[in-house]
Amino acid sequence: MDTIPMSDTSHRTATVGSVLTRPPAEPDVAERTPLPDPAERDIVFELAGVEVRYSGVTAIEDVNLKVAAREITAFIGPSGCGKTTVLRTLNRLHDITAGAQVRGTITYHGEDLYGPRVDVAEVRRRIGMVFQKPNPFPKSIHDNVAYGPRINGRKRGEIGDLVEEALRKAALFDEVKDKLKQSALGLSGGQQQRLCIARALAVEPDVILMDEPCSALDPIATARIEDLMQELKANYTLVIVTHNMQQAARVAERTAFFSLDVSNGKRTGVLVEYDDTEKLFTRPDDQRTEDYVTGRFG
Ligand SMILES: Nc1ncnc2c1ncn2[C@@H]1O[C@H](COP(=O)(O)OP(=O)(O)OP(=O)(O)O)[C@@H](O)[C@H]1O
Ligand SMILES: [Mg+2]
Repeated sequence: MDTIPMSDTSHRTATVGSVLTRPPAEPDVAERTPLPDPAERDIVFELAGVEVRYSGVTAIEDVNLKVAAREITAFIGPSGCGKTTVLRTLNRLHDITAGAQVRGTITYHGEDLYGPRVDVAEVRRRIGMVFQKPNPFPKSIHDNVAYGPRINGRKRGEIGDLVEEALRKAALFDEVKDKLKQSALGLSGGQQQRLCIARALAVEPDVILMDEPCSALDPIATARIEDLMQELKANYTLVIVTHNMQQAARVAERTAFFSLDVSNGKRTGVLVEYDDTEKLFTRPDDQRTEDYVTGRFG
């Protein structure tokens, strides 16, 4: 696989400040830059020197990586090394975590994700999140998926089609089309997780973050989600956290291995190695990666 063209930032310069920033109420014409089409971008996220602290204690530090568009990037590593912490920096979920502080730089399509004019609601719409435990709302299947489009002001007449489209993209429509008005809580775990993916897709995101999306699922439901991930990457950028190394090897183009630095009496997460998945699993550069992927550690 080709390496990501890290040095080519020319495609970004024209769009800085325009991807996520809601224009002021009466914007100058010059400020009304149309939203760039994410499909034209190669690098979705670029993290430089990222550190996250909880109540002043560093959980993870000096994370540098780039996430490429329309690929699956996997985060692996032992429990507590900071995978979820890094994932949550990508859609600013730490903004609502008491005591959490993010330092360093994270750009999204070349724009500072934490910039002062960035519209956080737009961040969450573009960068969706699917959690470890399926968390449908205690509402009907239809209303779960319709929730985001309704909040975003989509017209009543559009909602039905949007719901169907999202359920189809999440490979769930055929299983639920006759019971859209029934409670989502009556679905199986695997169906609930696909519903949560449909809910994320319904607001037309660019990126979907998934934190151990299959850990509560059986192997058959897991295989369905993995197939779905493969389909989704044609149009979306996926970043997944997984404890299942086979899963990372099966689905991800690139894998980041995080570990814990326990020197000097501290326990800080670090990004040990980030590479093409096949290389990381077969010819890692770092001994710590080798020990982990061969099962000697963790
Ligand atoms: N909200 C929080 N407040 C305080 N400390 C936290 C918080 N969330 C995470 N941490 C700490 O940050 C470190 C990294 O946690 P994180 O959840 O990112 O790890 P992880 O790699 O996702 O682990 P796991 O594989 O178990 O999910 C841990 O030491 C954890 O205790
Ligand atoms: Mg986690």
